[in-house]
Amino acid sequence: MFNIEIDGRNVQAGDGETILAVCKREGIKIPTLCFIEGLTPSGACRMCIVEVEGFPGLIPSCSYPVKEGMKIKTSTPKILNARRTIVELLLSDHPDDCLYCLRNGQCELQKLARDMDVKRLSYSKVKTKRPSDVSSPSIVRNPEKCILCGKCVRVCEEIQGVSAIDFIGRGCKAFVGTAFDSGLNVSTCINCGQCILVCPTGALTERSYVDEVAATLADPDKFVVVQHAPAVSVTLAEEFGVKPGKDVDGQMVAALRRLGFKRVFDTSFTADLTIMEEGSELVHRIKTGGKLPMITSCSPGWIKFVEQFYPDLLENVSTCKSPQQMLGALIKSFFAKREGLDPSKIVSVSVMPCTAKKFECQRPEMAVDYVPDVDYVLTTRELAQLFRRYGLELGAMTPDTADTPFGERTSAGKIFGATGGVMEAAVRSAYFLLTGQEYPEEKIPAVRGLKGHKEVKLKIGDLEVGAAVVSGLGNARKLLDEIRAGRKDIHFIEVMTCPGGCINGGGQPIGADTEAIKARLQALYQIDRDDSVRVSHKNESVTRLYKEFLGEPLGKVSHHLLHTHYKKREIKV
Ligand code: SF4
Ligand code: SF4
Ligand code: SF4
Ligand code: FES
Repeated sequence: MFNIEIDGRNVQAGDGETILAVCKREGIKIPTLCFIEGLTPSGACRMCIVEVEGFPGLIPSCSYPVKEGMKIKTSTPKILNARRTIVELLLSDHPDDCLYCLRNGQCELQKLARDMDVKRLSYSKVKTKRPSDVSSPSIVRNPEKCILCGKCVRVCEEIQGVSAIDFIGRGCKAFVGTAFDSGLNVSTCINCGQCILVCPTGALTERSYVDEVAATLADPDKFVVVQHAPAVSVTLAEEFGVKPGKDVDGQMVAALRRLGFKRVFDTSFTADLTIMEEGSELVHRIKTGGKLPMITSCSPGWIKFVEQFYPDLLENVSTCKSPQQMLGALIKSFFAKREGLDPSKIVSVSVMPCTAKKFECQRPEMAVDYVPDVDYVLTTRELAQLFRRYGLELGAMTPDTADTPFGERTSAGKIFGATGGVMEAAVRSAYFLLTGQEYPEEKIPAVRGLKGHKEVKLKIGDLEVGAAVVSGLGNARKLLDEIRAGRKDIHFIEVMTCPGGCINGGGQPIGADTEAIKARLQALYQIDRDDSVRVSHKNESVTRLYKEFLGEPLGKVSHHLLHTHYKKREIKV
């Protein structure tokens, strides 16, 4: 450590730290637009400029390392003027329609304009016109609101390893688009929504189905049911200003019922069911010399990724549908029959942390006899919007519980919401399926935590099982390349599209930093600690479902409703 001076104060700093990082630690907020924690700074926006004694111009603090004895100023008139000019120039080519913008109130450009006291524009320009891309079932791109910070491009390439979007053109003609400037729907985009989370403006948003769901709730001829994913209850409260890490499961269920949903189901129920099916599939593959490693299939962004980039590994992917789709299929078959309902009158809505689930529910594989398993997917953000529209105060709700027959869950199903959760839940039950005994450990620390790539060797009976957990598809790429190259010591891989898993899904509340993601993770594991039933094979409603309807895991009915196959997807580039 050594001394530097910031705004006249002596401050300790370390080798390799940037000026921005030291300022943050010292409680000095320097505005940024293009900086992404954990990635190499691009220096594109210049919002983070500071003055350093001895340097002729203003320098970007996000990319400049501190040096011993450095004297830094962070808010001189020269700096503030330069920052205001940057904001004014951005606004000079930006639509003035904040009132109608999804990001109104959560937009970094809007906030900067307020912080910089921009009250009128000193620059005027004919605003660039570009059509919005509404071709994707998951993501809407509005290039007119794009400030060319490049964050989406970098996340798509460096975190997700997809590179569906890039800069096209140069200078004032530059814009962000797909290969051949075609619609996102025909690009390699895997619909993950990670670009939405980093976009500072309303240029990237989810495709909203709030109006459609509201309309269907008002239709007396429809029987509208809803399911909610494991990771939603630990993030929803953030949309209402509560600090990250609070579980509002019961209040969310109560509010969903107030909205008019006839039944509220918990997707964690089919997470437990997935474990029974997927665990049995893994055991079957191991015992019969089937294709290994087996790779999980519950994350739809990952499924499109493997179809496009690793079709040779499709046989390794579990045939299980995702928990969302399993529950959708059961609602329109078992539940409809049990309640004497015409499946065509049921509208099945799901609330997910994920934008890719919107794409998934429209896939042809996700319909049984041409009836889609799930009709509409709302993200956590859209659910909050729906609650606000109907004036429902989440905090004022008396907690309620989800409905039978798909309301019971174990905490193994709940931890699906975090990276490593599926693996941990699967190991707990696979151990039981193979040995007839409960897994002896309280938890499997090696698969927990936010690291993007984790591995562990597990002893299950006589077997030594190699398990790997990856989140963020850039991390998946590295592991898959090793598998392609002949690596043989891994038998089971959990892949989550989003870094950290569904708690950091593309449909989750905007603006979460690493600390917030950790708090969400801890909330899930707290639920696991507090629960009395922590293994999927002890979910009594799942057992009953097998007895009354499905028969057995991997049986004929399961295969028809709960399993599917994927095939190679051609890509343009
Ligand atoms: S992106 Fe931000 S500044 Fe632009 S219209 Fe939306 S809220 Fe306003
Ligand atoms: S949704 Fe995901 S894959 Fe698609 S452009 Fe955004 S980051 Fe890339
Ligand atoms: S779409 Fe958003 S994240 Fe991407 S370059 Fe434009 S403003 Fe930045
Ligand atoms: S945040 Fe430093 S240059 Fe953009």
